[in-house]
Amino acid sequence: MRIQIRLSAFLILMLTALAMHAEQQDPHSFSQPELMVVSHLALDLDVDFEQKALKGSVVLTLQRHDPTADTLVLDTRDLNIHAVETGMDGQWKEAEYELGQPAQGLGRPLSIKMPVDTTQVKIRYSSQPQASGLQWLAPAQTAGKKYPFLFSQSQAIHARSWVPLQDTPRVRFTYEAVVRTPAGLKAVMSAENDPQDQDGNYQFRMPQPIPSYLMAIAVGELRFQAMSERTAVYAEPSVLAAAAAEFEDTEAMMVATEKRFGPYQWGRYDLLILPPSFPFGGMENPRLSFITPTVIAGDKSLVSLIAHELAHSWSGNLVTNASWSDLWLNEGFTTYLEDRIVEDIYGERRAAMEGVLGYQSLVNDIETIALAADTRLAVNLSGRDPDDAFSSVPYEKGRWFLTWLEQCFGQQRFDAWLKGYFQRHAFRSIDTHGFLMDLREHLLEPNPGVVSIQQIRMWIEGEGLPEDHLVPKSSAFEPIDTARNGWLADELEAADIDTDQWSTQEWLYFLNNLPTDIGAGRLAELDKAFELTAAGNNEIAHSWLKLAIQNQYQPAFQRLEQYLVGIGRRKLIVPLYEELMKSESGTAFARRVYDQARPGYHPQAQSGIDVIVNG
Ligand code: BES
Ligand code: ZN
Repeated sequence: MRIQIRLSAFLILMLTALAMHAEQQDPHSFSQPELMVVSHLALDLDVDFEQKALKGSVVLTLQRHDPTADTLVLDTRDLNIHAVETGMDGQWKEAEYELGQPAQGLGRPLSIKMPVDTTQVKIRYSSQPQASGLQWLAPAQTAGKKYPFLFSQSQAIHARSWVPLQDTPRVRFTYEAVVRTPAGLKAVMSAENDPQDQDGNYQFRMPQPIPSYLMAIAVGELRFQAMSERTAVYAEPSVLAAAAAEFEDTEAMMVATEKRFGPYQWGRYDLLILPPSFPFGGMENPRLSFITPTVIAGDKSLVSLIAHELAHSWSGNLVTNASWSDLWLNEGFTTYLEDRIVEDIYGERRAAMEGVLGYQSLVNDIETIALAADTRLAVNLSGRDPDDAFSSVPYEKGRWFLTWLEQCFGQQRFDAWLKGYFQRHAFRSIDTHGFLMDLREHLLEPNPGVVSIQQIRMWIEGEGLPEDHLVPKSSAFEPIDTARNGWLADELEAADIDTDQWSTQEWLYFLNNLPTDIGAGRLAELDKAFELTAAGNNEIAHSWLKLAIQNQYQPAFQRLEQYLVGIGRRKLIVPLYEELMKSESGTAFARRVYDQARPGYHPQAQSGIDVIVNG
């Protein structure tokens, strides 16, 4: 009887997940992979900094699923299509094609007549200066100030703005590329790179199949410095040594992850350090993660970002979310792995502190997210821009779900399941339904009675956090609470708080948990004792500047202006603009500074902040 009830509860859970799964079409792609898929892509591109354009051609090789289908539909956004030919055995023939109308922020479908015996299509095209997936930087925006810089950011649906392709994480392809650059500039891609090559004519090969959002390119005055046999940093010359020192533990992180979760499948793992306008902390482009320079703090205090991007080599790049509604399968798993790596390399104390900080950001987000349905693990994104529903929910709620499973089943059984999950789905895409099937077969059924289906349902379908979730604790934070409370109660002067041994995480915990309306006078006391307005650590500066805005603490506003103009990482600047817009004087300040900062921001940062500041 009991078993029957359980089974039917699981059935309902599966059916709910199936409802999302059933939408065969990725709502963010025009492509029809059920008819034919692109299995290989060959790019031939010139990088034109004057016209801010990538110009050249792409040859797509197809695998047909429906032998009668005669139209290939690709995703494009702001692309100039110059000519289209279809081919077979090296013979090319002009093809009929049509660029459809733009729809719902998805760009435009490119429909190409593909006679049923053709297997390849060659498209001559160029990108436009406003391509949402590219940022073209003037020399002044780089560290060296002498050469321009170009980088791509394809996740979630921006690859289509620089390559016409099936822009859905359900399709994987291998690729090769030839890229020509002006003198003095090196090109790198999310592929095999030749570190010595500097001749302006670069060749790339990506032998493992990847989804489109992992297509990546960057061009700049780049140098190479090895950190180990298989890890290195690419960066501008003046940044190279500091980056290689900051991230020297990358190899140890790889070894730790491989030991627990199976082999690293991508050959090398290098880091590319971008200029400060890079809109993310990091991006897991395979073989070559793209990294913001804002985490080079000098003390390795922000390197969990590297653990995170590296972990995507398993969760995301190897086993990929099938749609952007399933983003938690990429980011939740990765945040979980990140925590495990940090614990292995930097110890339990550091991992616990970062866990509490992440949990606090989740609780904050759950309180402030406008749509309660957006606090579910799998969000229905049909008709919405995947960038809009972005929050810490897929990251942190996903992570705490997995941590909860780990605690319920014990680390040994959980790790064995997770390692198996990566093996079973390697180089494939998976949705929430597929995850549940795997979890049931390989963890729940072999270990009956450990967790109830009702509990799993609460995690997958419920809003916010289930009541029985674990609230993470860090004993390292207890003295911080004591110090903060003592100072707030006037039992202690700021100068008497013993902060000598405080790490970045302790500072963040101290600042993030001050009352938001503490008042400018009390901030002045802290500033006098600890010079927080001059803090060089970008995360600490972010927390401090947020407090400064909330309390109109004027002495920090010059620093705030410099910070907002100098950094383009969305996570660090968006909350500051949002906070500024809550007051009249803040609004005026935000508009003035944004006018100055906007030209230096990435298109994906501009579009988000336009809505905040002028919407
Ligand atoms: N893949 C993400 C960045 C991303 C997510 C780009 C969704 C576009 C859409 C990357 O791995 C990431 O999560 N970056 C975080 C790192 C942090 C959580 C350690 C970031 O940029 O802040
Ligand atoms: Zn991530």
